[in-house]
Amino acid sequence: MRAQLIDGKAVAAKLRMAVAAEVSDLVKRGVKPGLAVVLVGEDVASQVYVRSKVKQTVDVGMASLEHRLPADTSEATLLALIERLNHDSEVDGILVQLPLPEQIDDNRVLRAIDPSKDVDGFHPINVGQLATGTGGIVPCTPLGSLLLLKSVCNNLAGLDAVIVGRSNIVGKPMAQLLLGESCTVTVGHSRSRDLPAICRRADILVAAVGRPEIIRGAWIKPDAIVIDVGINRIPTAAGKPRLVGDVAFAEASEVASAITPVPGGVGPMTIACLLRNTVEAARRRRGLA
Ligand code: GUN
Repeated sequence: MRAQLIDGKAVAAKLRMAVAAEVSDLVKRGVKPGLAVVLVGEDVASQVYVRSKVKQTVDVGMASLEHRLPADTSEATLLALIERLNHDSEVDGILVQLPLPEQIDDNRVLRAIDPSKDVDGFHPINVGQLATGTGGIVPCTPLGSLLLLKSVCNNLAGLDAVIVGRSNIVGKPMAQLLLGESCTVTVGHSRSRDLPAICRRADILVAAVGRPEIIRGAWIKPDAIVIDVGINRIPTAAGKPRLVGDVAFAEASEVASAITPVPGGVGPMTIACLLRNTVEAARRRRGLA
């Protein structure tokens, strides 16, 4: 293997320690930051994520408030809960785990969250602030991806960045973050005409499409930095699914200069950034930023 491995677990552990120190400082000043996590329904992957979020919130010394609602919850009931959390002074961050059941409109729910408590950074106010470079809360997975990039290359200015995937959760905010770093940004997606050629231009390649190992070694420019956001479960004969990213790791790691593994790359950064966003929200809301 030629590429340097970008160790997301280690970078995330360091970030969590920094967050824990900030929380301890706030607690000494009489402020205990609190994160409310809302889970609607029984989606298995969502339950796993929420369990990790709750555990890590408590581990860094913050208060965790969990709200589990049945799958047949009405939109009005969820909106009423959000309204209560918006006005609850113990709550600094609100996270509604996606996806939501089909009777609930995601956008209406995300718009109902007080932007100052929107630690996912999905409210249009925060999306707009990221797009205009005027502050706001940045979505956790793109933020974690940027921190990993910066752990191997501090100055990204002028580099060609290609993001594959145009979701609101990763692709679009990642494009804004990299523009903010003065990269030349291209967003490729399922309808792009020649994705391999687009990828081959990239000094920085961010894969966020959710298709197992779609990005091959031959698509990667020599010495590129590769950030793999994909987490895909592949069935195996042994029964236990294997986790793979959107990048064919063995091939890509012979071409790239640095690459994130799956698991152990971007994944651990997402929750660490959620904790960071929650502390930041707690500070800002109290004028301590
Ligand atoms: N579901 C998958 N990723 C996310 C995320 O980053 N935030 C929330 N709220 N739900 C998700």
